[in-house]
Amino acid sequence: MDNPLKGRDLLTLGDLTPKELTHLLDLAVAQKLEWSQGHRTRPLEGKAVALIFMKPSLRTRVSFEVGVNRLGAHPVVLGGTDTVFSRGETIKDSVKVLERYVDCICIRTFAQSMVEEIAHYSSVPVVNMLTDEHHPCQGLADLLTIKERFGRLAGLNFTYVGDGNNMASTYLLAGALSGMNVTIASPAGFEPAEGVMAQAQGIAEETGARLTIASDPKQAVADANVVCTDTWASMGQEDEHEERTQAFADYTVDESLMAAAAPDAVFMHCLPAHRGEEVTDAVMDAPCSIIYDEAENRLHAQKALLSLILG
Ligand code: CP
Ligand code: NVA
Repeated sequence: MDNPLKGRDLLTLGDLTPKELTHLLDLAVAQKLEWSQGHRTRPLEGKAVALIFMKPSLRTRVSFEVGVNRLGAHPVVLGGTDTVFSRGETIKDSVKVLERYVDCICIRTFAQSMVEEIAHYSSVPVVNMLTDEHHPCQGLADLLTIKERFGRLAGLNFTYVGDGNNMASTYLLAGALSGMNVTIASPAGFEPAEGVMAQAQGIAEETGARLTIASDPKQAVADANVVCTDTWASMGQEDEHEERTQAFADYTVDESLMAAAAPDAVFMHCLPAHRGEEVTDAVMDAPCSIIYDEAENRLHAQKALLSLILG
């Protein structure tokens, strides 16, 4: 297959077609195997990638920096007080300067509209490393992890229990693109964004994925091959922690909820987890928990993504 992703942005998973997603995941599987067998190639030698963090990060920061390095490119990490947007310079000016130095701009920030504005001005590809609305790179890693575990994606049942946040939106698009059935169980008032649901439904018409919004966690996990959750208060919502802890009290993923899922069900969480809140220690540490494989796959999925868009 030629490479239709060359030069493209990844602002949400909705930027990919089902075919492009399959190609990307297949490449990630192949590159992961090659790396484990000791093959070392540096397809992005001589390139540079800006990694801009306007929110904290462990996994994204390290997996991108290491991944860019392994591909032979130079990662330029910008965050905290040295972040490019901290001195009142316009997004346009910052982007027009950055693109003279780097071949790709990756950013973690608050509003999705900021990532869109950067992409509007940028002549180099832009990658969303998490916004309040989407986390596409996590979605790629999670699909890779599920595919490794079950050998397929289409027809599996994936249930997310918790806040209708950036991860919930990402999973709706991930399911729609891959043909995986996705159920989101959230308390009233915390459902996923309607616009994303409508977009995902449109894509699902092509792949046959069933997308469902539910409220009862026990009913929602029946037949689930994957049970997944995320923090109840995302970055930027720290002040709402107490109020949200009450609203989500019945949405903890514990052993009894896992027992209501399919017998081969696995547990996933993008991390960081708040043990004792959205998930218990017993589930985090159970044999069915694949959270660390999921974290590792950030590296492999993003390497495949960058290989394609910068290839
Ligand atoms: N899952 C994830 O994006 O983790 P970080 O916030 O640590 O990057
Ligand atoms: N929903 C979480 C995901 C963290 C990776 C947040 O945005 O904080």
